[in-house]
Amino acid sequence: PTSATQLIRGHILHFLADPGEHDAADSYQSLPDGALWIVDGRVADLGPWAELRARRTPDELAGAECFDYGQQLVLPGLVDTHCHYPQSGVIASFGHQLLDWLNDYTFPAEAAFADPCVAEAAAEYFVERLLAHGTTTASVFATVHPQSVDAFMAAAERRQLRMLCGKVMMDRHAPPELCDTVASAERDSLALIERWHRRGRLRYSLTPRFAPTSTPEQLALAGALYRSQPDLHVQSHLAENPDEIAWVGQLFPQRRDYLDVYAHYGLLGPRTIYGHCIHLAPEEIRDMAHTGTAAAFCPTSNLFLGSGLFNHAAALDAGIRVGLATDVGGGTSFSLIRTLGEAYKVSQMLGRPLPPLRAWWLATLAGARALYLDEHIGNFLPGKEADCVVLNPTATPELAYRLQYGGSLSEQLFALMVLGDERCVVATHVLGRVAGKGNSSV
Ligand code: GUN
Ligand code: ZN
Repeated sequence: PTSATQLIRGHILHFLADPGEHDAADSYQSLPDGALWIVDGRVADLGPWAELRARRTPDELAGAECFDYGQQLVLPGLVDTHCHYPQSGVIASFGHQLLDWLNDYTFPAEAAFADPCVAEAAAEYFVERLLAHGTTTASVFATVHPQSVDAFMAAAERRQLRMLCGKVMMDRHAPPELCDTVASAERDSLALIERWHRRGRLRYSLTPRFAPTSTPEQLALAGALYRSQPDLHVQSHLAENPDEIAWVGQLFPQRRDYLDVYAHYGLLGPRTIYGHCIHLAPEEIRDMAHTGTAAAFCPTSNLFLGSGLFNHAAALDAGIRVGLATDVGGGTSFSLIRTLGEAYKVSQMLGRPLPPLRAWWLATLAGARALYLDEHIGNFLPGKEADCVVLNPTATPELAYRLQYGGSLSEQLFALMVLGDERCVVATHVLGRVAGKGNSSV
């Protein structure tokens, strides 16, 4: 039996705001010999270890479960704002861009999730991969099958994870075995909301796949459901690929642009997030910002599927909430660390290099804000849920060698995002407790 109180010592780093492109001084807190004091799964205190220790009684200290991570970085658990658990088996599928990739690889893989045993095994695998990569919260697409949501939510609940998931709604332009109807989407979504929404740390996310695979009637249903109950989330895809965008233009000729389709059906606003958002007109950028509609930046997927370069700096300038995402299985890695490395390369192509502090903000607090979960997670302010990842910035020979030549915080964080990956994960804690052992020894 583990204690209800944990003490985590290490190099604590977390964010209070966007560091911007010039490392705004009050946007983050770095405590090299820092400590987190966690009671009943929530941060109760944080500070320099010497000061935090002085605030505790000897009995309190003796009763706590202690983790001393020395020089390792302790960051808030990473937030993957867009991914597909049923697509773990189609990562690394050759040669196609989005629409052919969906038809030839993704839809056949998702059809197998009619079998609840397939879904349960895949959900267990996926959740274990997330934890091994330091990800503690994700916004997750299931398949059209309601049992696929049950399998994922149950796997997340067993580990007490804060997760969003929903049943894909898709009633046209997909194989018949993957299509629902307006009526079945309504019935199944309502039953899943009843079963899982706000149960523990779980929330339901309405999941119309994207505009081309839902009829106008189904998009209207999704909008009505979003308005019908407090705290429901919405996730979908937007402006990923030029052929996709042209298709949306043909299917919805009355709408101004792709975003306007979702706007028309009431699918913009708080707790809505769209994957990709690469090819947007100025009006779409403006409307996302003023409605509070978030964008998920998926650089490994956007490069792998040849979709394009998302300008995260322009989106942030416009006031859009942006989170980082793997988009597994269009994306090529479960690691948000590797994803940051790719985000940096994309940002270089666009002439706005992503600075390291802003990068780690994107992977933590910005993701929590993009998902409207920042009252619960995203940093270590007292009262927040104590999910964290411990990273060894010298886990590999290449990192250790590089950091001999400069080890300031910015250099460490930059080397980590360019050279680092899941080998740097020492441990993942969920509500204070160790949930994943990680891949790096200290
Ligand atoms: N657009 C519609 N469905 C999908 C999907 O599964 N993956 C990606 N990357 N884009 C999509
Ligand atoms: Zn996606």
